[in-house]
Amino acid sequence: MVPVRNIVILTGAGVSAESGIDTFRSAGGLWERHRPEDVATPEAFARDPDLVLAFYDMRRAAIQEKQPNAAHEALARLDAAWPGELLIVTQNIDDLHERAGARRMLHMHGEHLNAWCRACDRRSRWLGPLLDRPPCPQCGAAALRPDVVWFGEMPYRMDEIQAALRRCDLFVSIGTSGAVYPAAGFVRDARDLGARTLELNLEPSQGSAWFHESRLGPATEVVPAWVDEMLGQ
Ligand code: APR
Repeated sequence: MVPVRNIVILTGAGVSAESGIDTFRSAGGLWERHRPEDVATPEAFARDPDLVLAFYDMRRAAIQEKQPNAAHEALARLDAAWPGELLIVTQNIDDLHERAGARRMLHMHGEHLNAWCRACDRRSRWLGPLLDRPPCPQCGAAALRPDVVWFGEMPYRMDEIQAALRRCDLFVSIGTSGAVYPAAGFVRDARDLGARTLELNLEPSQGSAWFHESRLGPATEVVPAWVDEMLGQ
């Protein structure tokens, strides 16, 4: 097998599930209780900003009480030790990868703990509520929204992601259902570009057929085992 030099790791809500953060489409997932079109689209925000801001205020407060789990910690360990290129592309908007120590990473769907000012277009770290329309720390306008990519909006840093996919020889997908594009298409891009593809998930995702290999189980078990294998332990 070709030695692995450059790795791209895509993570989804399943990597944070065992930290107690709701996934979206698993049983009891978030979208069973809130229709995405009611809380996660620009139209929803225009129609009922209080509902959307309250929804994200609740989620922003909840994640600050959660802790990274063994899967986040294993990925941070791989990031620190891996001599080749490595990029963690997370769809998650929690900060558990960072808090576990991951550095070479990006949030393609934004971050719960950032606020984005619609007046000055700048982003600020934000831990509190937005429902009471606090002033933007940088321009003072009461125009802050969650810095989260809603359905119909463009994910962030796609150029960097595509460049990393072109260079990778191993693409690993962890804890994602493969239901939402463009992330769900990365496995095909990687495979078409000659990379090996591996899925680590609780159950087969919608894109399972595109992976050379799938290892099923909870992330806190399958991810540390895979990282140990990659680090030759
Ligand atoms: N370990 C590993 N995988 C798990 C675990 C676990 N403990 N628990 C759940 N999973 C898997 C589920 O089997 C499912 O395949 O994680 C996946 C979660 O899928 P979704 O809930 O659809 O979350 P995700 O794929 O991240 O959603 C993608 O959709 O709603 C948008 O923007 C939102 O970023 C999100 C995007």
